[in-house]
Amino acid sequence: MVDASVGGKTGIDHPCGKNLIGAFHQPIGVLIDPDVLLTLPRREIVGGLAECIKHDIIRDERHFEQLPGIIEKALVAAVDALAELVAHNVRIKARVVEADPLEKGERAHLNLGHTFGHAFEKVSSFTYSHGEAVSLGIMAASHMARELKLLNDQQANAIRDVLEVAGLPVDGLTLDVDECVQAMIYDKKVIGRRIRFVLPDGIGRAMIRDDVPEQLVRDAIASLKGEG
Ligand code: GLY
Repeated sequence: MVDASVGGKTGIDHPCGKNLIGAFHQPIGVLIDPDVLLTLPRREIVGGLAECIKHDIIRDERHFEQLPGIIEKALVAAVDALAELVAHNVRIKARVVEADPLEKGERAHLNLGHTFGHAFEKVSSFTYSHGEAVSLGIMAASHMARELKLLNDQQANAIRDVLEVAGLPVDGLTLDVDECVQAMIYDKKVIGRRIRFVLPDGIGRAMIRDDVPEQLVRDAIASLKGEG
């Protein structure tokens, strides 16, 4: 509801990686019924929250500041809170994809956490749900952004805190770093073996970097191992 419903990005998985085959194809309409969310297991709701957190990190600092309280309400399955959250996220997503339907530019910001996340899904044989993998991917991107002085400690801690409030994983990765890096090379967002990372540039903004040293990528993945 908060992500794939808007923007017409379709994709199927391939043994080489997630969503590797697909097309942009806009629907004639989208019907969203928030009551359906009440039928989902909690893990699915929590997974969806990763995309909501992503949207505010890249586009809405003010809403990001209120997110912990909003998420707490959403997690007790308050349908009004869920409906508001869905509407807020559809507005953000629609604005981005209207401006750049074919991902020639700013739409790529929506991939925050996904280059890492798709690799974690693949290497874990999809033991991580998409949202859980994206949460860890956002943590890895946030580590890189802090090292590159795009985020300060307070902002990086706020990202970690809101993911934790949602019940999403922020550490404890047991996957092999080499395997993850290898899987990232096959991500569809890689152009000419240069991995393009979406990094938070403060809260509410994002930027794309394709010049991140490999050692920093490895450090970012390694920073997810263990606790804290
Ligand atoms: N899920 C990211 C996008 O639609 O571009």
